[in-house]
Amino acid sequence: MRAPFKLPPVIGHRGACGYAPENTLASIREAALRGASWVELDVCITQDAMPILMHDEHLSRTTSGEGLILRSPFSELRELDAGSWFGEAFASEGIPTLEETLDLCTTLNLGINLEIKPTQGFEAETAEVIGEHLAPYANQLPLLISSFNHETLLLFQTLLPNVPRGYITDVIPRNWQQKLESAHCMSLHFYAPFADPSRITAMKAAGYQILSFTVNQPEEALALFELGVDAVFSDYPDRIQQALLREA
Ligand code: G3P
Ligand code: MG
Repeated sequence: MRAPFKLPPVIGHRGACGYAPENTLASIREAALRGASWVELDVCITQDAMPILMHDEHLSRTTSGEGLILRSPFSELRELDAGSWFGEAFASEGIPTLEETLDLCTTLNLGINLEIKPTQGFEAETAEVIGEHLAPYANQLPLLISSFNHETLLLFQTLLPNVPRGYITDVIPRNWQQKLESAHCMSLHFYAPFADPSRITAMKAAGYQILSFTVNQPEEALALFELGVDAVFSDYPDRIQQALLREA
């Protein structure tokens, strides 16, 4: 799939998670305040099929709760504190629903890279539920769906064919072309320490946008842009943007 938009060089990672608790509304607001025009956010579903923002499968690292999200009803998750672990100032932050997230991003005029985090074996159910909730927003804001999980990308190709897709991987695999073509992706997102100059050049020549995570040091970002990387995910999007301005 050819990209319907050009991504900005810097995308806020999990909002702007260097400044506020990841995947919360506060983190999204912080990204906008610090000049990001796009944010990356992780989404999964609860036991009762509510899409919410969360990176991990377990609640314990980033909330006051415990246990698996896929085994927890939304009404219980709604009561949890998703901010205090990061800082007392964020004690009132809860876990956002996908709808709250999309509404806020629409208000703030932010594009979204929504990373789908299915529990293994539950890919179809996860994609169907998220696809249903996303459908009304699909033409409302710039949206890129991505996943490490190839099955998920194939499912979204059928569910929301007009929403572009990105393939996430740590290492850029030698069969990158087959991976990208099979799910009609517009982009490949790789783990920055595994930058592979010749594969980046080949992917660019084939017309794909290349993204890299997670890049918090300006020098690293500039080196990746030099190789042909189009955009980096950063916990501190303003730092990378300032470095780009200094270079210009
Ligand atoms: O989407 C890029 C990046 O967020 C992938 O890794 O673990 O931070 O979700 P992770
Ligand atoms: Mg992510």
